[in-house]
Amino acid sequence: MTIPSFVVGIAGGTGAGKTTVARLITENVGESVTRIPIDNYYEDLSHLDLSEREAVNYDHPSAFEWELLREQLSTLLEGRPIEMPVYDFEIHNRKNEPTTVEPTDVIIVEGILALYDEKVNEMLDLRLYVETDADVRILRRIQRDVIDRGRDLEGVIDQYLSTVKPMHDQFIEPTKKHADLIIPEGANSVAVNLLEEKVMAEVHGDAVRDWERPSPETRRDRR
Ligand code: CTP
Repeated sequence: MTIPSFVVGIAGGTGAGKTTVARLITENVGESVTRIPIDNYYEDLSHLDLSEREAVNYDHPSAFEWELLREQLSTLLEGRPIEMPVYDFEIHNRKNEPTTVEPTDVIIVEGILALYDEKVNEMLDLRLYVETDADVRILRRIQRDVIDRGRDLEGVIDQYLSTVKPMHDQFIEPTKKHADLIIPEGANSVAVNLLEEKVMAEVHGDAVRDWERPSPETRRDRR
């Protein structure tokens, strides 16, 4: 049984490069790392039809099933496997089949609101916020939604102005204050390299660390 020893949260706005950071800092550690995209914890919207699901505000914290994320994360931290939901952006809903995720040495929790929930934050050993200029992020978002996901440009712009941007300012950007480290730009190779070394050291058991995942009480006292 593996008890995860290092849990990293990676937050930041849409298109900031969170997934790139997560991939780059873990690509050389093979199966000792599990990535938990919080997109997988969007609420189950099977009771709505497709046009209703298209209209949902996916950047508001209420779009996520926090209780399930907390529960599954703590199950992994106890060394037990989870049945993680899998999100499908095409249908704006979860797929029917979850996927089994085994606990590993390192766990990466990644998503726009990865540093939002207090209980999730308490389970993170290292909290990262990827900060990338808004113009770069919207360009990446347009490219991804229009080219990769086949959405229409007008819809992407409408969504950005009506929900993505205001929610970013109201909920996502403020989580930066919970971060231990802020990474300027998603592919910042100096930061990525330092973090990769840290992840490697955690996996190989020779990490130098004089902080531990504190109990909620200790963490509250420290901050
Ligand atoms: N989203 C969407 N449609 C859905 C569900 C979510 O358009 N059915 C959007 C939300 O509006 C939210 C975004 O998905 O802004 C969250 O994903 P994002 O952070 O952009 O993706 P990552 O690839 O994790 O980010 P990064 O580019 O930083 O790697």
